[in-house]
Order: sequence, then structure tokens, then C-alpha cells
Amino acid sequence: MNEALGIEAVGKTYHDGDRAVVVLDGANLAIAEGEMVALVAPSGTGKSTLLHIAGLLDTPTAGEVRVAGRAAGGLDDEGRTRLRRDTIGFVYQFHHLLPEFTALENVSLPMRAAGVARRTAAARA
Ligand SMILES: Nc1ncnc2c1ncn2[C@@H]1O[C@H](COP(=O)(O)OP(=O)(O)O)[C@@H](O)[C@H]1O
Ligand SMILES: [Mg+2]
Repeated sequence: MNEALGIEAVGKTYHDGDRAVVVLDGANLAIAEGEMVALVAPSGTGKSTLLHIAGLLDTPTAGEVRVAGRAAGGLDDEGRTRLRRDTIGFVYQFHHLLPEFTALENVSLPMRAAGVARRTAAARA
């Protein structure tokens, strides 16, 4: 089965003044297409940090991230944005929906921004 997400030896260290906070250290994860995965861990252990890195919203301080078979490490900001836009969907605990639009429009808007025709986007949504 094709790999949807690959996380290899990923590290993330935050710097708080001269204090280094190591949140991720050598994290590995491989998720195949069609696989459903839940990430469960106590509060403050790095779930959001890992998801932001996996979702290309944040960059790791070490290691490699692959999304849909493409290495994110070598991409510039624009390349990362494109890869994220074309392959990743987020549903947040707080939905961040645009209140001026219907639910259907909220779902189809990212497709419209990616150049998908209105009718195709509406049908998929
Ligand atoms: N921007 C940041 N700067 C410094 N520390 C952070 C930052 N974001 C998260 N942390 C710290 O990283 C740790 C993991 O946070 P987080 O990924 O939000 O955990 P979870 O989602 O599992 O609750 C926590 O100790 C948090 O305080
Ligand atoms: Mg969290």
C-alpha cells in the first residue's frame, strides 16, 4: 500500500529564552493510504506539535517528513503550502469555519482556491 505520511527521526526543540524544551526526539511514524490512526497521549506530550509538523504547518528541528511520497524537507514555503493544499485536510476541534458561508461552501472553498471548477467542487463537497 502507498505511504500517505512518513515521519522519520523527527525532533522538535523549542527555545524559551536560554532554556531548550525538547518536545519530540526521534519520532517515527508511517501511515498508509486508507489507514485510520488515532494519536493518543496525555496533555502536553507533543501531539499538537507532531500534527503541526505532519501537516506542514510547522517545521521539525531534526528529521524528515514525507507527505504523499514527497519529502517536505527540501521544499520552500510555497512548495510546502502547495503540498499541504493539495494533499492535506484538517478538521480542528474548533472548526474555524467561515461564518458567512454555508457548510457546503466551507468544504468546497479550498478546492475552488486550488483551481477546481465550481460544479466539480460542489459535487465533491
Ligand atoms: N511555541 C512553543 N514554545 C515553547 N514550548 C511549546 C510551544 N508549543 C508547545 N510547547 C510545549 O511543548 C509541549 C508539547 O505541547 P503540545 O504539542 O501542544 O502537546 P499536546 O498537544 O500533546 O497537549 C508542552 O510542554 C508545551 O508547553
Ligand atoms: Mg494539543
